[in-house]
Amino acid sequence: MAIPLIIDTDPGVDDAFAIALAARSPEVELKGLTTVFGNVSLDLTTRNALRLLAYLGRTDVPVVRGAEGPSGAADVHGEDGLGGQAHTLPESDREIFGDDVVGLFRERVTPETVVVAIGPQTNIARALDAGVEFPRLIVMGGGIGVGNTTERAEFNFWADPAAARTVIRKGNPVVVPLNLTHRCIADTEFLAKVDQTLSNFTGTYRAYLENRSENTGIYIHDAVAVAEAIVPGTLRTKTYLLDVDDDGALVEGNHQVEVAEDCDWPALRAFMEQRLSV
Ligand code: RIB
Ligand code: CA
Repeated sequence: MAIPLIIDTDPGVDDAFAIALAARSPEVELKGLTTVFGNVSLDLTTRNALRLLAYLGRTDVPVVRGAEGPSGAADVHGEDGLGGQAHTLPESDREIFGDDVVGLFRERVTPETVVVAIGPQTNIARALDAGVEFPRLIVMGGGIGVGNTTERAEFNFWADPAAARTVIRKGNPVVVPLNLTHRCIADTEFLAKVDQTLSNFTGTYRAYLENRSENTGIYIHDAVAVAEAIVPGTLRTKTYLLDVDDDGALVEGNHQVEVAEDCDWPALRAFMEQRLSV
């Protein structure tokens, strides 16, 4: 029986790899995408979600438009959110399923459902505050002693610190932080092996990293989080006492949080290459 999966997302280049990995993995049944502002505007993340699903042949998957907010990572993901290559995807004439994200979670989250949140946590926090319970919630975000937007804060948590705090305190998430995802680099060899429509999204992101490091690829943050939904146990976790401060930094606190801190990256990389090669 495939695991029901809902992804809350701000596509976004690594989001695109994560959504494709889910769509091409029989272990999970994609039940919906909920969109959020983040890498680019909500209009663009929602449009990208619809177009990615059209490209992946999954127009059966509803897209629900979620929270608006200030976008902030076009320098990494490109002005269109997909490295300036969104036009290479088929246009989608499909309408969104609606804009009631809390209602979608209430309707579609079953005791078996996994929700993976790979953008700012605004939608998830609103659902938690409305009494929605997530049986299994996996969150890409945060960094213990490391950030990518400030020295201490990771982008998803920085974009809405209050929401990230709510999720940490009420959501009982598995957190997949930069401490792990910074070791998960989709390098040029990986990008040459996989679906070139996806790889073609990475130009802006690669240039951004090449100007700041020796990296010749991208951090595939979001696909690492989705891999844990596909094959539970992919990520090795440890419990910490944490909280989120006003700047979005993950700090010591009083809330037990399961943190993914290790994986067999060579094995996970091979798994992703196999699933993402057409
Ligand atoms: O910090 C990495 C996270 O921020 C990823 O989810 C990426 O897509 C951006 O949203
Ligand atoms: Ca993302």
